[in-house]
This record gives sequence, C-alpha cells and structure tokens, in this order.
Amino acid sequence: MADKKNLRTPIVCVMGHVDHGKTTLLDKIRGTAIASGEAGAITQHIGATEVPIDVIVSKLRDPKLRDRFIVPGLLFIDTPGHHAFTTLRSRGGALADLAVVVVDINEGFKPQTYESLQILKRFRTPFVVVANKIDKIGGWVPHKDLPFAATFKKQSGDVQARLETKLYEVIGELYNQGFSADRYDRVTNFQKTLGVVPVSAFTGEGIPDVLMVLLGLAQKFLEANLRYSATGPGVGTVLEVKEEKGLGTTLDIILYDGTLKKGDTVVIGSLGEPIQTKVRALLKPRELSEIHYESKFKQVSKVTAAAGVKISAPGLEGALAGSPIRVATEETLDEIVAQIKSEIDEVRIDTDSEGIMIKADTLGSLEALVHEFQKDEIPIRKAEVGDISHRDAVEASTVEDPIYSVIVGFNVKVHPDARDFLQESNVKVFTSDVIYRLVEDYQKYVKEQQE
Ligand code: GTP
Ligand code: MG
Repeated sequence: MADKKNLRTPIVCVMGHVDHGKTTLLDKIRGTAIASGEAGAITQHIGATEVPIDVIVSKLRDPKLRDRFIVPGLLFIDTPGHHAFTTLRSRGGALADLAVVVVDINEGFKPQTYESLQILKRFRTPFVVVANKIDKIGGWVPHKDLPFAATFKKQSGDVQARLETKLYEVIGELYNQGFSADRYDRVTNFQKTLGVVPVSAFTGEGIPDVLMVLLGLAQKFLEANLRYSATGPGVGTVLEVKEEKGLGTTLDIILYDGTLKKGDTVVIGSLGEPIQTKVRALLKPRELSEIHYESKFKQVSKVTAAAGVKISAPGLEGALAGSPIRVATEETLDEIVAQIKSEIDEVRIDTDSEGIMIKADTLGSLEALVHEFQKDEIPIRKAEVGDISHRDAVEASTVEDPIYSVIVGFNVKVHPDARDFLQESNVKVFTSDVIYRLVEDYQKYVKEQQE
C-alpha cells in the first residue's frame, strides 16, 4: 500500500439536470459543516470545494468509522449542467474519480440526467444517484439533517408509500438506461448495483447517507488507483480561461496529480503550438472572514493534488478549456510540449475528406461529440474548439452535399457576421447544450434529406 500521506483527494463531480439541486446539495454539505463550527476545515477552491475526511466522518455520527477510511477527504466540483464532467478530461478518460448524479425525485429524468448517465457509462466512473427534494413529497414531515432511514421511519405510511413509488420510477429509468439500481440501503454490492439515496438538500435529510456511500466508493477507487499522488510534478486540466480585472487572462485549473508551485514552468494546450510559460501567481478564493480585502483572491506559493487554483502567467491567451497543463523542467520540457501537442491533435479533426463540421466549447466536449458521431459512423471533416465563425460558415457553404453542408455546435455562439452569412446560405446549423440531442437532430435531418 502507498504511503497514506501521499494519497491525493478523490475528485467528485456533481452532475444532473438544471435546477435539480446540485449547488444546494453542496451548499448543505458545506453549510452544516459551518454550523457545527468546522468552517475553517472546509477549503474553498476555484471551481471546487474540499471537505476533509474528519468533517465527513463527523456527519456520519459514528466515530468508529474514522479509522476505516484512508482518503484525506473529497474534492467536490460543481458547475452548471453536466458541463464540468466533459471539461474535466484527462488523456484517455475522465478526470473525475467519482460522481454524484442529482435527480429531482418529483420531476424525474430530464435530458441532462440522461446525458450525465451516458457520459458516466462511457468513462466507467463509479457514481451514486441522489433522488433529491424528498421534502416536496406530499405530507412529508422534515427532520433536519437526519440520516434517511431515521427520517423515513418517522413518516406516515402514506408518505412512505409515495416516496417508494417515486423512487421506483427513478430506479426503473436507471434500469432502462442499462443500470441495475436500488435504494442504497438495499444494495449489497456497490460494484454491481447503483445506490440511489433519497435526499433533501434543503433539510439535509439523507446527506450523511450520500457521504457514506461516496466514501465507500472512494475507498474502492483508491485501492485501484494508487498511482495518483500529491507529490511529483503537477498535472492538471484547464477548467476555464478567464479575464480577471488587473490580472489579464487567467486559467482556472483542477490539479489532479502532483504539486504546482509559483515560478514553475508549465505547458498548456492551445489551438496552435502549446503555450510555455512561468507561473506568476497561484490564486485561491478568499475566505468569508477576509471579506475586507479588495481582491477576491489571495496568493499561495504552492498547491498539491487534488485542488482547484487560478493561475496568472504571461501569454495565456489562446489556452484551451479542457486542455492539459503540466509542470516541466529543463530536461522534460521538449517531451512534455510534444506530448501535449499530440494529445490536442488526437481530439481535433482537420481533414479534407467529406463530412460535417463540429464546434464545441471545450476539448472535453469536443471529444465527447466526436465520439458520439463516430459511433454512428457519421463522417466528420473538421472538429474544433471555438465559436462558429464567419470562416467556418464560408467553409461549410462550399460543401455541396446537403447532408455534409452542416455545422454542429455544442455550447458555442454563432458570431454575428457568421449568422448573417448563414441566413443567406445553404448551410444547416444545429446547436444545443445536450450532446445526444445534436446527434438525434442531425440523424433526423439526414433522413428527411434522403426521402
Ligand atoms: P444549475 O446550477 O442551474 O444546473 O442548478 P442546480 O442543480 O445547482 O440547482 P440548485 O441547487 O440551484 O437548485 C435549484 C432550485 O431548487 C433552488 O430554488 C433550490 O432552492 C431548490 N432546491 C434544491 N434542492 C432542494 C430540495 O431538496 N428541496 C426543495 N424543496 N427545493 C430544493
Ligand atoms: Mg448549480
């Protein structure tokens, strides 16, 4: 077994349909910690929240559990929609070690719920399903922060039956998606059966149970993935490229392996040659208690995996969201530049043969789109990160075959000059923030053309 001290924190991505309660769930995990005087223990990262193991165990109401866990804590990542997950790519896979899929038990499955499940299936990422908003079930009597079994026992027979009915709808939907699932306390083998935890992110009911299941999954994950460590040269993924007042272009990154220090030379993927630069500053959000400071950020001298951090450095314009970032030394620089270039090239497609054009907001979503279209044997002429530009429009309009004179855009904007041009042209444009919808829409269009 690896040295416990060097184990890095597992990364947990919170996914699910808009408004189903991802952020509220995380707020609750954070908030109950603050209420119990552990606020300082919770670390707010760029795009992520780290909850140390002691805080998690304290919520489980069983101190004996402490020694059972070797993980240092959990790093939760929350961004709107399922978006974060595809951005959080790493070569050949997903960066998130575990996931939480949040579904509103009253609304049931929605497009981004399906999308989340498809992505997780493809990457074989272990996850738990949270059936949220149980407090909205008619007649529910809330019991703040209680584990699910305890609050369930206190409900009337009618309410219990209502919950079970809704829960079985969720389990049935999961089954339709190819997952065997059950209420988590009825699951004996979490490697074979998905656990579904009924929760209210509002009242905190069921939250201890979610943490418990996650820790169980994390232990399993760590046993299989001890190669990740908190020492060694830093490796991460660019979550977002952002302009910040006074700082210029900055990168929000998630470091998933090793250590990153101020002054380190880093290599980052871009559309052209990889960027080589020196880290000028590593920035973290300020705590609430430091609110009198002008700046939202404070400097740190180093970060270790897993962590979220903002990087300020010269020459970051043109960096790609979803691209790798790696610390290099004089000896490793050339090799790392070549590595990152080939990784970006693997995802991008730029050929002259027949096919459609795909544009996406990040490298990860582009990769996912290309995969879905290729799976259905739809030829792709060009796949690139970026908004739909005038040049793209002109290029697509030169294709004569209507089924290939197509631009598919995921989470991208159409530039105004491109829009004007497209209105006058024969080019068909599909945009959406749901991947499988783009594939379906395109296939429907092809069918219509062939009739
Ligand atoms: P996006 O970030 O937009 O994708 O949404 P989200 O999944 O983060 O949802 P969010 O946490 O913002 O919650 C959406 C709405 O549902 C808010 O008005 C919450 O107050 C409400 N909500 C979330 N969880 C619960 C719950 O357990 N019970 C009830 N009654 N309302 C909830
Ligand atoms: Mg949210």
